[in-house]
Amino acid sequence: MNKQEKESYLREYALMKQEGKPFFPYAVAKDGAMAAVVMLSIILMSLFLGAELGPKADPTTTTYTPRPEWYFFFLFELLKVIKPAELVQLATIGVPTICMILLFLLPFYDRSPERRPERRPIATTAGIFTICAMGYLTYLGAHAGPPTQIDMETPPALVAQGGEKLEQFEAGKQVVTQSGCAACHKFGENGNDGPGPDLTDIAARLPEQAIARTLINPTAPMPSFQNLQEEEPEKFDAMVMYLSQLKGE
Ligand code: HEC
Repeated sequence: MNKQEKESYLREYALMKQEGKPFFPYAVAKDGAMAAVVMLSIILMSLFLGAELGPKADPTTTTYTPRPEWYFFFLFELLKVIKPAELVQLATIGVPTICMILLFLLPFYDRSPERRPERRPIATTAGIFTICAMGYLTYLGAHAGPPTQIDMETPPALVAQGGEKLEQFEAGKQVVTQSGCAACHKFGENGNDGPGPDLTDIAARLPEQAIARTLINPTAPMPSFQNLQEEEPEKFDAMVMYLSQLKGE
């Protein structure tokens, strides 16, 4: 703001002050009335509508999708977008803190007296970009599948064939999603990239018997699934069959 602008602003301000009503009690009374209406609505809603609790917690579920409240979806999604472990701190603490600090300091670094959005291209663009980015991340967060889900396409040949083979494939997929493999392996777009190798195209690299052998006698830190093979051989076979169909997308 230059000297001339400052003077014209002060002149306008003095004029307004002469004509206008003082903040106390007029504006305070208005704010107070509105605050009372909001409080009263909340009290009435909690009395008559009650609070939603959602379904009862089920400790045995393996398909639960942990999700924050909707207004944190963008943050939740940001965490998923930022993959490298070293950057996780930056995503969880860094980005929101930096944004808050920038917002607090806004009156100090943005001294322009201009108020029209079209005359403030940088601020307007930054604002629109932030709103769009948060909106998009919120949308992605709201539609995210459970962390154990595998979204890879079922091989078309198998779908065409149908029957028992397809059933076994689907069963195997379920065993894989429920056995926590995705905590260490990537399947298409799902799962973690490491410490285990990407399994998207495991069948192109390992024959079926070798996959079964790896599951029974793996190299640490991969856990052995020998118990599963002994106790529920059907599930184990389905899992091996499923993996032997993963030839990449
Ligand atoms: C604790 C992490 C972890 C879990 C859980 C895990 N794995 Fe692994 N897996 C690994 C690691 C690490 C390797 C690589 C071992 C090596 O270098 O030989 C591996 C290797 C493999 C391989 C061989 C890959 C190749 O290219 O040779 C297959 C197949 C495999 N895992 C399947 C599975 C399946 C199926 C599950 C779930 C039922 C599973 N893994 C669970 C860590 C894990």
